[in-house]
Amino acid sequence: MIMHHAISSQDGNLFIESTALSTIAGQLGTPCYVYSKAAISNNFLAYQSALVDKEHLICYAVKANSNIAVLQTLAELGAGFDIVSIGELERVLRAGGDPAKVVFSGVAKTASEMQRALELGIHCFNVESEAELELLNSTASSCGATAAVSLRVNPDVDAQTHPYISTGLKENKFGIDINLAAQVYQRAAQMAHINVVGVDCHIGSQLVDIAPFVSALERLLALVDELAGLGIALKHIDIGGGLGVRYDDEEPPTPQSYMSAILPLLMDRSETLVLEPGRSITANAGVMLTQVQYLKSNGEKNFAIVDAAMNDMIRPALYQAWMDIQSISTGNSESAVYDVVGPVCETGDFLAKDRPLSICAGDYLCLMSAGAYGFVMSSNYNSRPRAPEVMVDGDQIHLVRQRETIEDLLSGESLLPAVVR
Ligand code: LLP
Repeated sequence: MIMHHAISSQDGNLFIESTALSTIAGQLGTPCYVYSKAAISNNFLAYQSALVDKEHLICYAVKANSNIAVLQTLAELGAGFDIVSIGELERVLRAGGDPAKVVFSGVAKTASEMQRALELGIHCFNVESEAELELLNSTASSCGATAAVSLRVNPDVDAQTHPYISTGLKENKFGIDINLAAQVYQRAAQMAHINVVGVDCHIGSQLVDIAPFVSALERLLALVDELAGLGIALKHIDIGGGLGVRYDDEEPPTPQSYMSAILPLLMDRSETLVLEPGRSITANAGVMLTQVQYLKSNGEKNFAIVDAAMNDMIRPALYQAWMDIQSISTGNSESAVYDVVGPVCETGDFLAKDRPLSICAGDYLCLMSAGAYGFVMSSNYNSRPRAPEVMVDGDQIHLVRQRETIEDLLSGESLLPAVVR
């Protein structure tokens, strides 16, 4: 049985830190997301301790899990944040994060988002096109501000991950072609309200191999040196996020081994290293709990119909992602092979396929590695209220987001005015 950082098994029952998952399911109902504060902290500290000798800024990618209690946990450890919208920036503020440690990524920042970020004095904008640079310069000018900028370049490196989460190839929409970057830097350096401070790349997510990271960094460093020759000196190098985690039997590098592969390339260089890890901080620090509603068999196949669906966790449906699923207490039923499916009216609505499980209706299941790209990608499809989120700290259970109510779903909608005849 695969054991994940946050989850342990004792006498056939699953625990998160020192709290039984069955206690949480019983108290708060299902579906429900549960995170471990210690695991989130440890995953962040693993990066920090791997980087002691190098000036750095670890900007947690808020998109992976943006619950404000998660952000608060990281802010308290001194984390910076990588955001892609003003909504994420407001979350960082609410959580006590420091805007001076925020990098703003994303291909389509609007002028009003730029204004708000300038007003708060963020660390830097990761600019993805020349057109965006123009808008940022004019927006900063009208605010009487100067925008710190890093250009996100596309190093044309194959991250060898799922095509939907691969971002560093020429064919992807992200970044500025590395071969055209020097020209854009020269334009930027002449703009009155732009202060060029860095270079950035992010080649993809769930990378389980170090080699693509190293190639991307080598290309970035060649560019940094070329720019120095043109009189443009950069203060930081941002190598994005992307370190994979273990869902099944992958063996991704640890933050420690990842850093020891790239730090030699940065030796004798003064630039600060910026990182944007998301998944590797939160994925294995969280799970999603669900309850078996019905068991059903059609001769060929057995289905475990559970109360969580693709609206709660879309990764299996969207990326054919394999996620481990286990019963949270030892069942006394016989083992059979099940497809674990939800109540949503779509064939793509499954959490897991062909899994041996010994379960009966009423049993609770735990979907592992669900702390990243889980709740944040959930929706109200089929008018299903979104699940609550819980942060466990030792034996303390903190409800950090309530289950949505039907009233929450309907608030904001209105009927058409009555027709007057
Ligand atoms: N920086 C940028 C600019 C990004 O686009 C991303 C993720 C990250 C950092 C964080 O990457 P991470 O360390 O989490 O790999 N929903 C997908 C993953 C999408 C990743 C998008 N960008 C999934 O569930 O697999």
